[in-house]
Amino acid sequence: MRLSKEEQAILAGQRGPAEKRALEIVVTLGRVYGAERLVPVESVQVAGVSYRNLGDAGLEFLQDWAQEGARVRVPTTLNPSGMDREQWQKQGFSETFAAKQEQVISAYQAMGIEPTCTCTPYEVGNRPRFGEHLAWSESSAVVYANSVIGARSNREGGPSALAAAICGRTAEYGLQCTEHRKATHRVEVYCRIRQPHEYAALGYMIGAQVGDGIPYFVGLDLPPLPADHAEPSTVAGSAASDTLKLFGAALASSGAVALYHIEGVTPEARVWSEACPPNVATIKVHSVQEAIARLNHPIEQIDLVVIGCPHASLAELTEIARYVRGKHLRSALWVTTARAIRRQAEAQGVLQTIESAGGLVIADGCVVIAPMHELAFRTLATNSAKMASYALPLAGLQVRFGSLESCLDAAISGTWAKDISQ
Ligand code: F3S
Repeated sequence: MRLSKEEQAILAGQRGPAEKRALEIVVTLGRVYGAERLVPVESVQVAGVSYRNLGDAGLEFLQDWAQEGARVRVPTTLNPSGMDREQWQKQGFSETFAAKQEQVISAYQAMGIEPTCTCTPYEVGNRPRFGEHLAWSESSAVVYANSVIGARSNREGGPSALAAAICGRTAEYGLQCTEHRKATHRVEVYCRIRQPHEYAALGYMIGAQVGDGIPYFVGLDLPPLPADHAEPSTVAGSAASDTLKLFGAALASSGAVALYHIEGVTPEARVWSEACPPNVATIKVHSVQEAIARLNHPIEQIDLVVIGCPHASLAELTEIARYVRGKHLRSALWVTTARAIRRQAEAQGVLQTIESAGGLVIADGCVVIAPMHELAFRTLATNSAKMASYALPLAGLQVRFGSLESCLDAAISGTWAKDISQ
């Protein structure tokens, strides 16, 4: 690998042990993947925030690096933690967990990282431009940045993203390179996919088939996204963006998809004639019902409804508020979102409407990485295929998956209505 004089000096320790360690991680990864050089990153998004996953060993690793002098060189935001930092008591989590969770976030803040605690950084200021190099680690955010915006990020692990933030660089391999962004599969969709949860089911189905491949979808009816090389994308928060959030998150969770193209819709598919080479494997889709059925366990009683995986936009919060206005919810309803979006919802009275019905709008957190074993919930309903596929293995919850309306109806009645699993 060719390293610049500056990079060689960092490796020699001239900018301190913390940056030396960071660059060593980035260079080692680059050598493993055959990179020829490093490239500067415009922003970083770091996962690995929940104390439930990190434990004391992970917390000490972060504190040590911070004490060694690690400071980020580029704008860096954080993935969700295991709780709402202001409402963890309402969620029912223990003081012990909350205290440890705060220590994790403090360690990241000591390195200069913004405690955004969201998986939708592109909705709260960390909004990349087409073609920019990034080092992001939340899989749903990576697939969004690559596919919906046309920026470039590999699926970084938490430590490798943090290392990239500290040295301001990543190795140029994989999706950082144009030649590795071509489709590996052509997916021809012959059924009408209308609702967001149907997109999620399609993503869940195709992710399982293509693994870490790059699917190129044909036959999806979505408005074209801007192929904008100069200005930050203005797509975030729109209906198409919200649908693609659910879609990409599902692709990235049942498989390891980090980039997809949609013919005539996503930016690279619109401006790049080679996005889908001829003779790639073809997958034909005639229905997503089987995928929807696979995501549904045979339960009726719903203890908890979770919307906002990935984190809900203001438009989604507004839609939820409209649906539950004046209602009295029988199940718990948690809507997870970014704190900045929660504030906007509060300013518009949207938050108050959801809370008057009995729902909770949770910032900073994610159910999948929360200490759900501390609570009494046993069943969950969601419109997110990612949440549906992770809820049992990672949070111990049986699941119903369906449309937003089906989930909110379940929150209102306390049960999953028969015949609405689709
Ligand atoms: Fe976000 Fe957690 Fe879902 S990180 S994408 S809310 S599993």
